[in-house]
Amino acid sequence: MIRNHCVIELDVQIGNWPRIENFVEIQKGTVIGDHCFIRSFVRIGEDCVVGDYSTIKCHSILATGTVLEKHVFIGPHTVFVSDANGHGGATVSHYAWIGAHVVIEPGVVIPPRCIIGAHSLVRSGQIYKPWAVYFGIPAREVRKGCKADFDKLGTSIREGEKE
Ligand SMILES: CC(C)(COP(=O)(O)OP(=O)(O)OC[C@H]1O[C@@H](n2cnc3c(N)ncnc32)[C@H](O)[C@@H]1OP(=O)(O)O)[C@@H](O)C(=O)NCCC(=O)NCCS
Repeated sequence: MIRNHCVIELDVQIGNWPRIENFVEIQKGTVIGDHCFIRSFVRIGEDCVVGDYSTIKCHSILATGTVLEKHVFIGPHTVFVSDANGHGGATVSHYAWIGAHVVIEPGVVIPPRCIIGAHSLVRSGQIYKPWAVYFGIPAREVRKGCKADFDKLGTSIREGEKE
């Protein structure tokens, strides 16, 4: 389902069973996987990838070249910023969870099952660990993540997946 007043450029690819709400802009070269949920007023720049089962909450912005792997959650008002040349190119790995109002700098790689707390600034040039919780400005590791975190955040852990 694609709701009203969206601007989706001609060579954008959208997979099966999309749920795209009102006033969404998706720029050229972007690929959206299956079962993605994109809420209102999201803007996705050129040549981005949004993996299957990912969710992007309202008013978030993805700079050019941003890659979201599968089952990623992006909270509302999160911004992937671009550099002076207009390139973003951050990657969020599968099952990572990003809270509301987070700013992510260009080139950052957020590993699988990483949790970034609300209102954080995720700096480039830092190594982020999988299965860890970060928050703050700049975002710092506060503790290891665990199944209980994902239960609380409403996403499940797959059978056999390590904590
Ligand atoms: C990252 C997060 C999930 C961790 O939650 P949590 O497990 O309850 O946090 P902790 O218990 O480890 O918190 C430890 C301390 O850090 C503080 N803290 C938690 N999240 C923080 C954040 N994002 N920024 C700054 N401080 C934070 C807590 O207030 C607590 O402080 P205290 O010890 O002085 O009381 C949560 O803080 C968060 O940011 N959630 C985002 C919610 C959101 O954006 N949802 C969008 C859904 S649409």
